[in-house]
Amino acid sequence: MSTNNIDFDNLTFTFTKTRSMYVTKCKQGDNWNSGELVPYGNISISPASTVLNYGQGLFEGMKAYKTEGGRILLFRPEKNAERAAMGCTRLSMPEVPKNVFLEAVKTVVKDNSDYIPPTEQGALYIRPIVFGSAEGLGVAPSTEYTFMVYCSPVGPYFKGGLTPIKLIVSTQYHRAPLKGTGSVKAIGNYVPGMLPSSNAKKEGFAEIIYLDAAEEKYIEEVGAANFFAVIDGKIITPELTGSILPGITRDSVMHIAKEKLGIDVEERRISIDEAMTAEEVFCAGTAAIISPIGSIKYNNKEHIFSNGDVGPITRELYDILTGIQYGNDRDPFGWILEL
Ligand code: PLP
Ligand code: COI
Repeated sequence: MSTNNIDFDNLTFTFTKTRSMYVTKCKQGDNWNSGELVPYGNISISPASTVLNYGQGLFEGMKAYKTEGGRILLFRPEKNAERAAMGCTRLSMPEVPKNVFLEAVKTVVKDNSDYIPPTEQGALYIRPIVFGSAEGLGVAPSTEYTFMVYCSPVGPYFKGGLTPIKLIVSTQYHRAPLKGTGSVKAIGNYVPGMLPSSNAKKEGFAEIIYLDAAEEKYIEEVGAANFFAVIDGKIITPELTGSILPGITRDSVMHIAKEKLGIDVEERRISIDEAMTAEEVFCAGTAAIISPIGSIKYNNKEHIFSNGDVGPITRELYDILTGIQYGNDRDPFGWILEL
């Protein structure tokens, strides 16, 4: 799609084709090599591939931002490279080396830089994907892997940006068990959430909050973002037990809270009952950015937070995070990679 047809003033989190994508392949036992930029388009794959049959694949999600002056910034891209590498190991795929991952991301962003929305109107969402692309009938790792990177201009994941969302706690479904694959961005982690999520949307909720699969008592995360609560002036976020995705935004929020705002941060189990006593609650992720949670429904009771408004700590964290990402504020953490 030509950039002329993109309505940059009204972007949502939907897919728009861009000029190009990056592809490289690797045989089991070989090393990954640099790949090439090709026009964005469909790919050909065997119906017997391990990704189509057994879900052997993962994805990453990251963003490129345009500054007021038109500079292009990536936010902590090496963290996505590290998380993808961990995920490859868990899913029996050869790790994509950091240099190959970062080179691919930079190449795609540079070639599609005219698709990056104007500053503060959204970002270029970057999707690196790794998957088993050879045939395999038995449940065993593929003999060939494909690493691709594509991108799309996007707006906020939840409608309205910094507008409080309504969530509902799932008492019927879990996201991930302990010792499963919840801590990596396995593609198979996301489809089980589609049914609960669309049911919740039919009832007017933006997303689901998942509880832990063992005791159904402690908050895990929101569909595709990490959970935070402000209680007695401290920030609490569920500890990484193995079933929760170690979010890069989560880590960034914790650093900003501790090091810029002087707020105590606790990573620990937080029960749904305790969360209901919070002064503010919000969720955080690359797509979700920082989204204030206005209300949570649990066991037929709906609890309103911050009078349904954006809490002051949530707003401050949002302003600092997005200020760094759009290059408006100095980056004291060394998180920004300028292209
Ligand atoms: N939790 C899940 C399940 C996710 O899919 C994501 C998105 O990547 C997050 C949390 C937030 O992670 P990050 O901040 O790295 O985007
Ligand atoms: C992201 O925040 O990048 C995600 O991966 C969320 C996505 C599943 C929509």
